[in-house]
Amino acid sequence: MNKKNVFINTIGCQMNVYDSSQMAKLLKHKNYESVDSYTNADLIIVNTCAIREKAVQKVYSFLGRLSDLKKKNTRLKIVVAGCVAQQQGAKLIKRFPQIDIVLGTHAINQLPDLLSRIEDSSSPIVRIAFSEKIHETASPAISVTQKEKVSDFVTIMQGCDNYCTYCVVPYVRGREISRKPESIIKEIQMMVYSGLKEITLLGQNVNSYGVKEGLTSFPELLAMVNDIDGLERIRFVTSHPKDLSDQLIESFGKLNKVCNHIHLPVQSGSNHILTKMNRKYTREAYLEKIEKLRAVSPGIGITSDFIVGFPGETEQDFNDTLGLIETVQFDSVFAFEYSDRLEAPASRFSDKINSAVKRNRLQRLFTLQKEITKKKNQSLIGQTFSVLIEGESKNQLKNISTSETVELSGRTSENRIVNFDGSPEWVIDIESLKGETVNVEIVKAFSNSLFGVLLKSQIEHLKSEEGHFHVA
Ligand code: 5AD
Ligand code: SF4
Repeated sequence: MNKKNVFINTIGCQMNVYDSSQMAKLLKHKNYESVDSYTNADLIIVNTCAIREKAVQKVYSFLGRLSDLKKKNTRLKIVVAGCVAQQQGAKLIKRFPQIDIVLGTHAINQLPDLLSRIEDSSSPIVRIAFSEKIHETASPAISVTQKEKVSDFVTIMQGCDNYCTYCVVPYVRGREISRKPESIIKEIQMMVYSGLKEITLLGQNVNSYGVKEGLTSFPELLAMVNDIDGLERIRFVTSHPKDLSDQLIESFGKLNKVCNHIHLPVQSGSNHILTKMNRKYTREAYLEKIEKLRAVSPGIGITSDFIVGFPGETEQDFNDTLGLIETVQFDSVFAFEYSDRLEAPASRFSDKINSAVKRNRLQRLFTLQKEITKKKNQSLIGQTFSVLIEGESKNQLKNISTSETVELSGRTSENRIVNFDGSPEWVIDIESLKGETVNVEIVKAFSNSLFGVLLKSQIEHLKSEEGHFHVA
């Protein structure tokens, strides 16, 4: 069989990153190799996001650019996958006739079969039915052949039943369905066998994993993952504050591999807005959970998501949000201007906030958080952290590293990025440092990262194990 090239453009969240890697694995079996540029691709997949209008515009502009390419190369196949595919279905083909397959969020496992079908026919295919069962694409045979990254994702559940009033996810990802624990564990074991050190468990609301199906609970699943030999770190996203149980909070203290970080989206600090958003918790309940987390796990990294300019958000509501940020002192936050989504009820709410006000509130929020992050990062100077090395730093990859040596990058358990010089004279094999956990002392603090020094004394054990250090 001739080798073919596939280019996958992934837009959106980690769930899409995981789905794209599943598609790449499936396609490997059809002799497709992943390439970094679409100009010479035989197959282009765009894996799409519908969470905000900006993400959808990004999809449309990419598809627009493919029109000429398809005219020049009639053998080129174009697949649109993910949330916009699910949301728009056949409408996408009307607007972009160059598309061959519209692959909904529950149809990923059908990709190889659908590609065979369009080989012999020129009519486009749309697959957007929701299934009751979760698709399992990761058979051991697929996973084991690939050299895994140091850190990767695994989806443990799909869909969402929460219906926050601003959110399109329940409409494009369907009802909450959890994967069986055995199949998750098996997949992670395969990844660890291929070199993985850190896993991030993914779901829209991982805290309610297994509840509906009467499976293992999420804290129980965490304990099972914690027992996997060779795995060093466990992370999970996203947690919903309303479902963050005491048992789960205790897991941070009990399970040694669970990282000291939680992403706990609060969205707003105003009870009035939280009710309108249908979040099902109050500002006070959220703050109480933060206190409990800090009691169990002092120094825990806490990050969050915010939406500013939700319909009806007054200046007072917004000030409550700023006040909550002051109180919690998050390590970092993601924040977005509210964006109408057609299916979501908030799009029909009155008192929409105009875009200048939204922009202004977003700026004020970022200014406050920037100060907090800076202060927090500066307080870390002089402290030593255990860092899992992921590879070369972004500075190094972009060739803007100031040092003449090789700058490596990794994360602390709290999920802070730490860059450091990976090539002091006593390290002889930088390549094999990747995937190692080392101790780094922080010497400089920036707004989004820290810079540190690799500590020689702390990593001497490695030289005897693997022989990749040479101590002068
Ligand atoms: N407008 C703006 N931001 C949104 N988010 C979800 N829906 C919308 C919307 N309609 C944000 C929330 C969520 C994150 C993934 O995206 O903050 O936590
Ligand atoms: Fe959207 Fe709310 Fe579900 Fe998160 S919990 S995916 S914000 S509906």
